[in-house]
Amino acid sequence: MAAGTAVEATGVERDAMARALDLARRGPAHGPNPRVGCVLLAPGPVPGARVLGEGWHRGAGTPHAEVAALADARARGADVRGATAVVTLEPCDHTGRTGPCSVALLEAGVARVVVAVPDPNPAAAGGAGRLRAAGVEVVVGVEEAAGRELLGPWLHAVSRGRPHVTLKLAATLDGRVAAADGSSRWITSPESRAHAHALRAEVDALVVGTGTALADDPALTARAADGGLTAHQPLRVVVGTRDLPAAGRLAGPGGEVLHLRTRDPREVLAALHAREVRRALVEGGPTLAAAFLRAGVVDQVHAYVAPVLLGAGRAAVGDLGIGSIGDALRLRTREVRPLGPDVLVVADVEEEER
Ligand SMILES: NC(=O)c1ccc[n+]([C@@H]2O[C@H](COP(=O)([O-])OP(=O)(O)OC[C@H]3O[C@@H](n4cnc5c(N)ncnc54)[C@H](OP(=O)(O)O)[C@@H]3O)[C@@H](O)[C@H]2O)c1
Repeated sequence: MAAGTAVEATGVERDAMARALDLARRGPAHGPNPRVGCVLLAPGPVPGARVLGEGWHRGAGTPHAEVAALADARARGADVRGATAVVTLEPCDHTGRTGPCSVALLEAGVARVVVAVPDPNPAAAGGAGRLRAAGVEVVVGVEEAAGRELLGPWLHAVSRGRPHVTLKLAATLDGRVAAADGSSRWITSPESRAHAHALRAEVDALVVGTGTALADDPALTARAADGGLTAHQPLRVVVGTRDLPAAGRLAGPGGEVLHLRTRDPREVLAALHAREVRRALVEGGPTLAAAFLRAGVVDQVHAYVAPVLLGAGRAAVGDLGIGSIGDALRLRTREVRPLGPDVLVVADVEEEER
């Protein structure tokens, strides 16, 4: 067989990929880097029957999954020459905060690499090519659907060059997000709010308009059940030209505050992309929500809907310029989850609707 030519993955390797995906899930959902897991399998008469080492990526600046697995194998005293590396994302080929994983695998003498998802990041891709060129067998696309599902917003962000955007709404049954006097605390139940805080802890940035910042004086923090701040605090972003009060809750503890004096959603996303934000949660209000939807940059909607009626007050989303039902923006429901008395609807905005 020619150097680097791949044969199909074995059953043992597929099982190891399932394990590698589980390991990857231990990594943080937020941050600039993807969640990746790696399992090193011993060569031998029963190929891959013995695990030599395991690793996963614990976040930016820490070793990548492959390097962590090699270190684990070393700590176990295992010889990895001729081993198979089963890894959920194509090994990177660039030097960022750490060195290229392709080189680390080559230097360790790994003979075969089984990958779930090819790396779409132009800065990091090329690991499979380098490995093949050096005579390593590479199989790509093993359990790829599960790998893509795990990478989710990260994959989207690096392939499009802008953050994945989730629009969050907390609405009444009649689609309102504030009463006539502008008050909106609280429309939804404690269960919904706890869920929303868990979501905040998984994203890189929270985004609101100046209207919300001025009306609600939000802290824009991710809080645990006991009210304390979670370990990861997303960047707090306010969009709009008006000044913000120096003494508001945004001045309190939480993530860094970024006031972007623009009304252009694409400019907002470019600024966030430059800061390696992969997932942004736009929390409104209705004017900013409409601006993002009109710009075609909302990827998913999380609508917390409470069994509450207001009859008047702000609609969840401002004018989208839609005049007729045939032009309605129709989303694809991904999940419907009861939360106490409320319901969470998670829906994707499909490509053709943008
Ligand atoms: N229940 C919920 O989920 C929820 C969530 C958030 C807010 N709210 C409620 O919503 C109300 C605030 O709504 P809102 O619509 O005034 O607030 P908003 O959408 O947060 O902010 C609107 C402001 O953002 C700036 N802006 C940024 N990009 C823009 C664009 N492309 N087009 C126009 N303006 C842009 C403008 O201010 P500049 O003049 O500064 O540029 C505009 O006045 C409050 O009552 C709040 O309680 C409810």
